[in-house]
Parts: sequence; structure tokens; C-alpha cells
Amino acid sequence: MPHATWQDFETLESYIAKEQSLHPQSQGIFSNLLRRIGLASKVIMSKSQKAGLLGVLGTHGSINVQGETQQKLDVLANEVLKDTFRWMNSVSCLASEEEDDVMHLPERTEGDHRYIVMFDPLDGSSNIDANVSVGTIFSIHRCKSLQGPPPMSDFLQKGTEQVAAGYILYGPSTIFVYTTGHGVHGFTLDPVIGEYVLSHEDMHIPDVCKCFSANDSNYPTWDAGTQRFADHVRYSREGRYAKTTSRYIGSMVGDLHRNLLYGGVFLYPAEAATGQGKLRLLYEAAPLAMIYEQAGGAASTGRQRILDIQPDELHQRVPLIIGTKAEVELYERMVAQ
Ligand code: AHG
Ligand code: MN
Ligand code: MN
Repeated sequence: MPHATWQDFETLESYIAKEQSLHPQSQGIFSNLLRRIGLASKVIMSKSQKAGLLGVLGTHGSINVQGETQQKLDVLANEVLKDTFRWMNSVSCLASEEEDDVMHLPERTEGDHRYIVMFDPLDGSSNIDANVSVGTIFSIHRCKSLQGPPPMSDFLQKGTEQVAAGYILYGPSTIFVYTTGHGVHGFTLDPVIGEYVLSHEDMHIPDVCKCFSANDSNYPTWDAGTQRFADHVRYSREGRYAKTTSRYIGSMVGDLHRNLLYGGVFLYPAEAATGQGKLRLLYEAAPLAMIYEQAGGAASTGRQRILDIQPDELHQRVPLIIGTKAEVELYERMVAQ
């Protein structure tokens, strides 16, 4: 519904301020942090929209720590996020999918309010050259140690300990979706006024399985339980699956945003031969699991809730099944058989 007047707009800024006012002891440090992510996303959006003109399409010529070819925009988005937090007193460290190691920022003075921000600067970057939607994913943790450079254990916290998580989808419109553990809220960027305006308050995943999302060419590599699940959801045409349709963009943020709105399940399971998943726990699976759980959905490896995994390395990869609760639970039952 269009908003009646400018004064009626609930913006990301005003919404964050409203949430902050529920915590009278809050000094607004965390709210500032979320606002800065909003700002960074506008810069990334603006660069991506002009990518073909600025000469930043295509590969960068480097390989990241995950062994993946970096796109020029992966590198650029990573730099924008690093620059965003470099000046924030409340952020002590960063970790990024595109960096080998954690990044310690200069010693901060606000020892009681130290946050760690982790991000996938550009998700779905193999889609960029074809002008297909991409995204940014972020996860925020509190530093447990209050003095000195945080130890690795501060980065390796379970998803249940995230204080906030979210994503920005750069599609036909730019949408900022976040949770601080009190529901999931979505804001659409009005490019004329440059503000994120509340468009999806208190998002809930519909309890239907409209979409099935997976890279089907990996089917032969999946274990028998996963294959049975995929066949049942896609082809049974029974009950909840009478109208299920296959949809896969290859930009997880895009796939998961669509499924959050329509209902459905996304899976990137382990290869049966190696037991390895592809998606990164700290930058992709955990933040999106928090969003989905807050929206009434679920996220699992098939054997364990994503948010309960104790990470043992920074760039750890996990199998991921995420969507409506009914489908995630069905998957868990089918792989256990
Ligand atoms: P990234 O671009 O950050 O490396 O992430 C790509 C991820 C995810 O967005 C997507 O769902 C998946 O990898 C696609 O992988 P396949 O091409 O193997 O399907
Ligand atoms: Mn990604
Ligand atoms: Mn990425």
C-alpha cells in the first residue's frame, strides 16, 4: 500500500529508534551500528547499479580463502563494509567471507559495547554479470572479552548468540531485512529520498510449500534421504506439494527472500561422498537461520539446528536446509531413515 504522506513514513531510522526506546538503558550504540549497515548497503547498491559503467563487472583475478574466484564487486563491497566500520568506536573486529583472517580494528575506548560484525559482502556474485539479484548478509555478535584484541573464541560463537542478523537484497528494489530477536522487519529503499521505508513489518513465512529451491545438477551427489525428500516435494503432487514449484536463482539472499514471502524450502545439502556442505556457517547459514526462526521457519543441517552449531573454524561450511518448519522437519525425518 502506498504511504499517504511523507510524515507517515516509518523509516529504518525511525524504526530502529523506536526499538531502541524499548530499552531505556540503551545508549544507541547498537542502533548506530544498524544504521551504518543501512548506509553501507546504499553505497554497495549504487556501485552495483553502475557496475557496467564503472568497469567493475567480471572477475578480479584473485581467489579468496574459500578457493573461489573473486568478482570485482565482491572486492569492492568488502572494502565498502570495511570502511564503514573502521570509524565506528563500537565495533572491535570484523570477519568477512572475502578475507583470510579476522580483522582487528584499532583499540576502542567503549569497552562495554564491543561488537563483532561478520559479513558476506556480496552473495550470489556469480550472477552479477547477468544483472541478476545479489545481496549482502550480516551477523552481529557481542565481544565477550572486554579488553585487548578479542580471541578467536569470540568469533566462534553459536548462532543463538547473535544479537542481530539481516540481509540486503539488491533486486528490482533494494530491501533491508533484519532481526534483533524481536521479529523480522523489512524496509524498501525509496531511491528518490534515499531512505529505507518500512514495507514488511513482522514478517512470517506462510505455512505452505510453494517453492522448492536447490541446485538440481547436484542431485546425483546427494544421499538417498535427500533425494527421496527432493523427489517427494517436487513430484508427489500430493497434499502440501500439490502446487509446489522449483525456483532457484543461485543468489541465496534472493532465493530465501522469495521463499520467506511465499513459503517453501531451500536446500544446499552435503555431498554424500565428502559430507561437506557449501554455504558458510558464520556469514550465510547462521544469520539467515536467525531470520527464518524469527519469522516462524526453521534451519537445519538435517541432523542439527543451525543456530546450535558450535563453530570450530572461521570459514566453516555446513549443509543447509532452511524454510517452513514442516519441510525442514520432514527433511530431518527422511535423512534419518
Ligand atoms: P557467494 O556468491 O557469496 O559465494 O555465495 C554463493 C552461494 C549462494 O548464494 C548460492 O545459493 C549458492 O552459493 C550457489 O551455489 P551453486 O552455484 O553451487 O548452486
Ligand atoms: Mn554467499
Ligand atoms: Mn559472497
